[in-house]
Amino acid sequence: STGRIAGIGSVNLDHYLRVPAIPQPGETVLAGSVHTSVGGKSFNQAAAARLLGGDVEFVAMVGADGPARAVKDDLRDLGIASDRVLVCQDEPTGSAFISVDDAGENAIVVVQGANARLTATDEVDAAVAEAEVVLLALEISAETVAACARRAAANGAKVVLNLSPYRPVTEDLLRDCFVVIVNHHELTRLLSGTATPDLTGSWAETAATLRRRGIRRAIVTLGSRGSVLFESGEYTRISAVPVRAVDTTGSGDAFAGAIGYGLSIGLDLAEAAGLASEVGAFAATGPGARRSYPTMQQLTAWRTSVGFGRPN
Ligand code: RIB
Repeated sequence: STGRIAGIGSVNLDHYLRVPAIPQPGETVLAGSVHTSVGGKSFNQAAAARLLGGDVEFVAMVGADGPARAVKDDLRDLGIASDRVLVCQDEPTGSAFISVDDAGENAIVVVQGANARLTATDEVDAAVAEAEVVLLALEISAETVAACARRAAANGAKVVLNLSPYRPVTEDLLRDCFVVIVNHHELTRLLSGTATPDLTGSWAETAATLRRRGIRRAIVTLGSRGSVLFESGEYTRISAVPVRAVDTTGSGDAFAGAIGYGLSIGLDLAEAAGLASEVGAFAATGPGARRSYPTMQQLTAWRTSVGFGRPN
């Protein structure tokens, strides 16, 4: 059986700039192209979970503007209801300016706009009440994230929080999470720079520190080095799926969305992390964020063609 997934958080209109190299301070560069599509970390997570086959609700706030219509159209395409996408009258829909270079690296500037006005309203309560899994990221107000996590945890839902873009969060919020997802940079900041984990060596110290901080489970994503899963003071390495990255934009969001989907179909966290590694890798092989996310059918076909993965 599939449990309901609630994605609560940000949605942006993304402006992609293809550049030979990410501009340095004081530098002007010419972009080869620009195009727009709907993104935002929470929207991307919800899209990833939905494309895999999840039963997904989405709660967000947009402006009373043109980009808001693009958001609704995209949600309709994905088969996600937009009746819990609220409209803010005095802020525009969020936007993001994403430079992607020839090596597939990116730099992103986000204008929060209406996202910053999303609060834990009745819509949030209703979505949380029906959810088995709640997907969260940090592109909306930290108070709203904390309130959503508190309500979700109180309802027995599994909270999946991607600490991105990184910002300090309360111990209470961390405790309300079933699993916290961070990349290496975010982990270092989460541990206040005290532990700089060795990428190849032992993660035992990190495991102990996370446990002391009251973080029950965490996944640290390491790009081409795979990821590390922390649970009950122990750690397990999840191997990477080797791909040639074209554009890693939104790969982390796809990873988090796939964790949510995996939990919603009853996978344990290690199994969900294996699936998420594949989804994140697939997402890096194509341009853009959700445009490069796989359906379950595409993922299965790809797994066969590349010749890796778990037996079905
Ligand atoms: O993680 C990728 C996302 O970051 C983009 O879709 C953009 O909107 C920013 O939020």
